[in-house]
Amino acid sequence: ANKKILFLPGDGIGPEVMRQVRRVIDWMDRKRGLTFDVSEGLVGGAAIDAHGVPLADETLAEAKAADCVLLGAVGGPKWDNIGFDKRPEAGLLALRKELGLFANLRPAIVFDALVDASTLKADVVRGLNIMIVRELTGGVYFGEPRGITDLGNGERRGLNTQSYTTSEIRRVATVAFELARQRGRKLHSVEKANVMESGLLWREEVTKLHKESFTDVELQHMYADNCAMQLLKNPKQFDVIVTDNLFGDILSDEAAMLTGSLGMLPSASLGAADAAGNRKALYEPVHGSAPDIAGKDIANPIATMLSFAMALRYSFDRGQDADMIEKAVQNVLGGGMRTADIMAPGMARCSTTVMGDSILRE
Ligand code: NAI
Ligand code: MG
Repeated sequence: ANKKILFLPGDGIGPEVMRQVRRVIDWMDRKRGLTFDVSEGLVGGAAIDAHGVPLADETLAEAKAADCVLLGAVGGPKWDNIGFDKRPEAGLLALRKELGLFANLRPAIVFDALVDASTLKADVVRGLNIMIVRELTGGVYFGEPRGITDLGNGERRGLNTQSYTTSEIRRVATVAFELARQRGRKLHSVEKANVMESGLLWREEVTKLHKESFTDVELQHMYADNCAMQLLKNPKQFDVIVTDNLFGDILSDEAAMLTGSLGMLPSASLGAADAAGNRKALYEPVHGSAPDIAGKDIANPIATMLSFAMALRYSFDRGQDADMIEKAVQNVLGGGMRTADIMAPGMARCSTTVMGDSILRE
């Protein structure tokens, strides 16, 4: 059967950048006989406008039936003043939750042609290629009890609970070990076992899992604060980093800035594997809907195209086709083509569509 991809372009620049991926898929269908069944749905503000909700039940059902979901971006000023759980972002959160996507993969790759876009020295980041695996469905963002309570005497308390179970730790660590095995065979597990019980359990479980199943991967434990430092000092010491929801949120944004350009950053969110080894998965650029540049054909489509490359690699076992897309991006950048967000002196500024053209041609 053909592989099924659900396209959810969303809002703002979402549809513009997703259109460029659609062209790559059409090309693959024609030239390489890779047949994908692509269907398209609404999410976020676009879904609110059409159905009154940011994710319709039918769309969710389609997402569950698909081999993977590719999403553009959601949100924008038009929908900023609706209730919290009715906002565009709620559609994305519901999708992640309903698909059980517990592992968020955020690569930070420095393309040779863009070394100067980094905020760090060229020799610190040149050739950088690291992968941060962030636990996405547990930890302090969801732990109970939580809330703000009145303590009397004008005192109030805001409470969140950081909580992880062995199975939550093991499943995300398994994803990270498996990735490390396919890459540089080095995993850093990051927590604060020195001050947190959840961190202590995290360290124990990752150590056990390592001994049981992944002795071919080199494992190192690191405290999160040290990791934040090391990412700036010597980021190339890392291959794969696995960490919890909160530390992962912060460290992945930090790592993103090593590359220097939001328009270049892809991501994947993976769920549990079924008996046949298939996982639910959502691929999306890290950036948002960029309302300030929407509708102008100037957004950088590369983050979304690289997200599709991740889909080829992790959902469809087409690593060579993923490599081909990444190589095409590298060559186009090497040739001096730049969208406005990555523009530099002496380079050729181009539109979203022309960037898509150039990558297709490569
Ligand atoms: P943003 O990522 O949309 O934009 C930040 C800045 O980066 C803007 O100046 C924008 O023009 C630029 N930028 C982003 N992507 C770009 C690209 N591909 N090419 C060129 N320039 C690009 O973040 P912001 O402004 O904080 O949020 C805008 C809207 O997007 C909000 O409604 C927010 O809630 C939503 N959002 C959605 C996300 C998602 O769908 N996963 C993630 C982050 C924000
Ligand atoms: Mg963040």
